[in-house]
Amino acid sequence: MFTAAALQASSKSGQYAELAEQVRGLLHGEHDRIANAANFSALVYGALEGLNWAGFYFFDGRELVVGPFQGKPACVRIALDKGVCGAAAAQRRTQVVRDVHAFPGHIACDAASRSEIVVPIVADGELIGVFDVDSPELARFDDEDRVGMEQLVKIYIDSLRAA
Ligand code: SME
Repeated sequence: MFTAAALQASSKSGQYAELAEQVRGLLHGEHDRIANAANFSALVYGALEGLNWAGFYFFDGRELVVGPFQGKPACVRIALDKGVCGAAAAQRRTQVVRDVHAFPGHIACDAASRSEIVVPIVADGELIGVFDVDSPELARFDDEDRVGMEQLVKIYIDSLRAA
């Protein structure tokens, strides 16, 4: 059984490098997208400080539908022209939002959220969904988080490919 170890590194990039190793170990040998999304969310949510939500929205061909997550119950469906999640999915670009109150169309699932990062999940040119992380701290995420989260999401995407 996989056990998550507390992150040792003090630098952000070091923490993401450690987390990447843990994600690789956790997803190794499993290709189910729901199972891996559930474990991925739980690992990230437990490992990083200052988060109040971490989880997946999957694209059903029309809109985003909530998947496995950690945190308070969330909005179930998000159109591609709505919210930070919709922007990440439609533009296929990571959104780093330092103040969600200043983001036009932000959807407040948890009123405590102040900043957010959303990474699109695209495999072989196909939109699979997004990975969304919220924080109650203003400006919790920066470009180092973008690089680190994109690296983690890539490990998730790679895990979906059949052996
Ligand atoms: N804030 C997101 C909605 C999802 S929740 O944060 C879990 C958005 O604006 O897309």
